[in-house]
Amino acid sequence: MASIAEKYGTPCYVYSRAIIESNFKAYSAAFGKRRHRICYAVKANGNLAILDVLARLGSAFDIVSGGELDRVGAAGGNQQTVTFAGVGKTRAELEKALKADIACFNIESIEELQLLAQVAEALGRKAPVALRVNPDVDADTHPYIATGLNENKFGIPMADAMDVYRQIAALPSLRVAGVACHIGSQLTALTPIIDAAKRVMKLVKSLHREHIEVDHVDVGGGLGIVYDDESPPAIQAYVEALCQIIDPCYRIVIEPGRSLVGAAGALLSRVQYLKQTPQKTFVICDAAMTELIRPALYQAYHDVLPVTASIEEHVVDVVGPVCESGDFLARDRKLGVSGGDLIALMDCGAYGFVMASNYNARPRPAEVLIDRDKFHLARERETSPQLYATEYRLT
Ligand code: LLP
Repeated sequence: MASIAEKYGTPCYVYSRAIIESNFKAYSAAFGKRRHRICYAVKANGNLAILDVLARLGSAFDIVSGGELDRVGAAGGNQQTVTFAGVGKTRAELEKALKADIACFNIESIEELQLLAQVAEALGRKAPVALRVNPDVDADTHPYIATGLNENKFGIPMADAMDVYRQIAALPSLRVAGVACHIGSQLTALTPIIDAAKRVMKLVKSLHREHIEVDHVDVGGGLGIVYDDESPPAIQAYVEALCQIIDPCYRIVIEPGRSLVGAAGALLSRVQYLKQTPQKTFVICDAAMTELIRPALYQAYHDVLPVTASIEEHVVDVVGPVCESGDFLARDRKLGVSGGDLIALMDCGAYGFVMASNYNARPRPAEVLIDRDKFHLARERETSPQLYATEYRLT
């Protein structure tokens, strides 16, 4: 980490190819011969190098925008394996995805369904669709990342699903491909996942009785990881539970993001100052909420490890230079670092860089992938002129 800081500067995201590969292989191995498709959720980390690592392993992809579809293509991923989720797909995005011949559109409203049918008809195509149903289960996670309750904006209520499927089956430009759900992210218990899958299978059986056949059952993403003292189910236990609930005649589709890349990334930062106030000691470092917003936005916990340490451990808050009191990365941690030392914020591979911003005119950091004994620069550090290159002064 020290040599990466030396070579590429800080703050810097550092990823491990080996960890990503071992997580993907754990999913594949757990499915064994079961028909399945692992659609990596690009939103978790869309860097081309990360997508490339996964594409080479045969991963499929879950996207939520036309931009993510472009990324999959640019990284050498197969766009025909793509599942397109999200409540607000635009006409242009639907057209782009239809032309790319993606595997499935996960539909979240009747209006979206009608627009897709129209666009597909105009292009002379048959769009593969799955309804994302809302199973109304409490995922027991942070409210901002829980999606499976009736009060959320996501999915079509279970009670309406049969009727909407009948409409799909009657539309010549649409083809029923599957059924989908996703109840939330950073799930640490199996029970809500099992409950949701069971509810979805009930729907699949009702559809079958009406001769509406789905090919796949997509249970979304959401498997949690260990940030602090959580104990999420292991990948194998999670997949085994799914295999038990979903009949073997259906392909199981999953959309994991965090559980593939979360633990594979750290945010490397250099300590600038140690600041003592009457109440607290602040470690002021060169990373901020602009690089990692999870602590500020979700009160998320990320472990902080010293890469180098120079003084005795004491209790500190780790903060950045951004002008907000919400700009903290970690609170009340025991660290022995001072100006010049390096720290690593752990488990930042998912929803780290992708949620970075340029607030305070801060260029976004570099990203480096550790590939066996080599460092691969996955993204250059942004420069300040790049940030205003597309702005215009008065004429
Ligand atoms: N599929 C759908 C439809 C999703 O909405 C999501 C995540 C995933 C799959 C991937 O979920 P994962 O396996 O990564 O849990 N920014 C938040 C997380 C937002 C998750 C949004 N949807 C965070 O930093 O915790």
